[in-house]
Amino acid sequence: MLRFGFDIGGTNIAAGVLDEQNRLIAKDSLKFPRGQGTPEVIETCARLYRSILDVSGIGDERIAGVGVAVPGSVDTRTGTVIDAHNLGFHHTPLEALLKDRLQKPVRLINDADAAALAELRIGALNGTRTAVLITIGTGIGGGLILNGELFVGGRGNGTEPGHMILRNGGLLCTCGVNGCAEVYCSATRLERDGAPLGILGTRALIDAARNGDPAAKRVFDAFIDDLGSYLASIVNLLDPERIAIGGGVCGAGDFLLDPLRENVGRKCFFETCPEIVTATAGNDAGIIGAALSAC
Ligand code: BGC
Repeated sequence: MLRFGFDIGGTNIAAGVLDEQNRLIAKDSLKFPRGQGTPEVIETCARLYRSILDVSGIGDERIAGVGVAVPGSVDTRTGTVIDAHNLGFHHTPLEALLKDRLQKPVRLINDADAAALAELRIGALNGTRTAVLITIGTGIGGGLILNGELFVGGRGNGTEPGHMILRNGGLLCTCGVNGCAEVYCSATRLERDGAPLGILGTRALIDAARNGDPAAKRVFDAFIDDLGSYLASIVNLLDPERIAIGGGVCGAGDFLLDPLRENVGRKCFFETCPEIVTATAGNDAGIIGAALSAC
């Protein structure tokens, strides 16, 4: 049987079909209907589901179950999105709504947990028993692998490492609390600090730093220093075998990883630092992980 995964983001809803060998055999995306409310999101998901099956010629009866990844805290026991600030979902019973619309078993999962599951099964965390995936994009997401399995939180709410507090009384996060790691270690930070230099966007800032622009390099170094402190704290808490970095920022490759490994190595408590690698499941990790989480 095949499985279907949705990765719902604030810009796009991406989705696809996973075969028995965990290969994505069909995929597509539609714009997230921003500001239009939950019924329109459900309709957009249903439209996407239908068109992916139609275009690929896959019959609905071959889909055993559907997984849905969202960028926020979820209650996996009740299938409710508790808070996904970027989507405007608060206490939204997404699992039941989609189940009703698609007439399929539906499972809800945090987007970074989905990506961690994909990395565990087919990517950079394969074979690990204790590992962490940190996704660095607009926000910071994270998924924990404990005892060789995805850990979805002691109370089933997932884990939210992006909202570990890095600065008491620091800048305000989208979650309403000051000083979250997300404010200092995300692509949004690079964008924010690049703007006064006239450098627009994360990629442009990284390129300028790589090309030796001194002001851009200072912004990038300060970012590495914050990200290094953040990852060193995670290492001290969990002693993981491996940390994988995903999300848009990991496209910087060794320009990011080399100074980061040095920074974390210097700050972590242990004599040796775990491996820090880039995630390998790519942009489709959220869809793949969502589908993997389906029944
Ligand atoms: C959310 C997380 C999510 C991450 C990446 C954060 O702001 O709180 O749940 O995994 O962004 O999308």
